[in-house]
Amino acid sequence: MESISELESRLKARPLPRHVGIIMDGNGRWAEGRGLPRVEGHRVGSDSVREVTRCARRVGVEALTLYAFSSQNWARPADEVAALMDLLREYLLKEREEILGNGIKLNAIGELDKLPKYVREPLEALRAESAANTGMTLTLALSYGGREELVSMARRIAEKIHSGQLEPAAVSEALVEALLWTAGLPPVDLVIRTSGERRLSNFMLWQTAYAELVFSEILWPDFRARELVDCLAAFQQRERRFGMTGAQAQTLPFRRKSS
Ligand code: IPE
Ligand code: IPE
Ligand code: MG
Repeated sequence: MESISELESRLKARPLPRHVGIIMDGNGRWAEGRGLPRVEGHRVGSDSVREVTRCARRVGVEALTLYAFSSQNWARPADEVAALMDLLREYLLKEREEILGNGIKLNAIGELDKLPKYVREPLEALRAESAANTGMTLTLALSYGGREELVSMARRIAEKIHSGQLEPAAVSEALVEALLWTAGLPPVDLVIRTSGERRLSNFMLWQTAYAELVFSEILWPDFRARELVDCLAAFQQRERRFGMTGAQAQTLPFRRKSS
């Protein structure tokens, strides 16, 4: 079997996605399959977060966005929600050195004011401390929903029009992008969802318009560097056409199928 570093250098020889989004799914089933409480799956899943983040940074992904908690996940049993919030706080405290030491810029998207203070505080602290970092941007999607994000964008546009700052005819794709929570991040090239589910579950609805989707059968706690490398290699086999013909797409710099 090839070593992880051999696999990673092979990946680096071809165009990589600039921005990868991951729907980290399957923690509960991983634990239930072992007769463990669901929270054990979330706990082991945070080891996957560390490994996958390291690997993405090594291969040179510019931005990694991890779907960690959806707006809809608040509907889960209160003890599971509380355990997830505890794990988030623990993650932010434990990973501080790793993030700062590797030049990673930590970012967060979602309805962050809904998070408990004991999560929001270490999150804001790390965001501020890492703001000047120029390595990979790691965005945590927390209390995040794509529809919620679009509603918030629409409200901001309505306010600008209402106050006379903006003409309806000036509403453009660029303006929408600038008012989304992901403003400033590169376009999403690849979305990975683990655990065999094939849906977006409200993840980056606008941003995924032209993203490649890769579905992995692996449950998130078992998804590590090797599995990420497999998904990146699958991305490199895709031909992205952006509405054009295959022949036209071949002429697009960095967008053609890398053979
Ligand atoms: C993903 O794993 C983590 C969160 C959604 C917070 P799940 O907890 O959804 O795991 P399954 O889908 O029930 O196996
Ligand atoms: C999506 O997973 C949200 C996260 C991974 C954070 P879910 O497990 O909540 O999605 P559904 O409910 O199966 O669609
Ligand atoms: Mg799930």
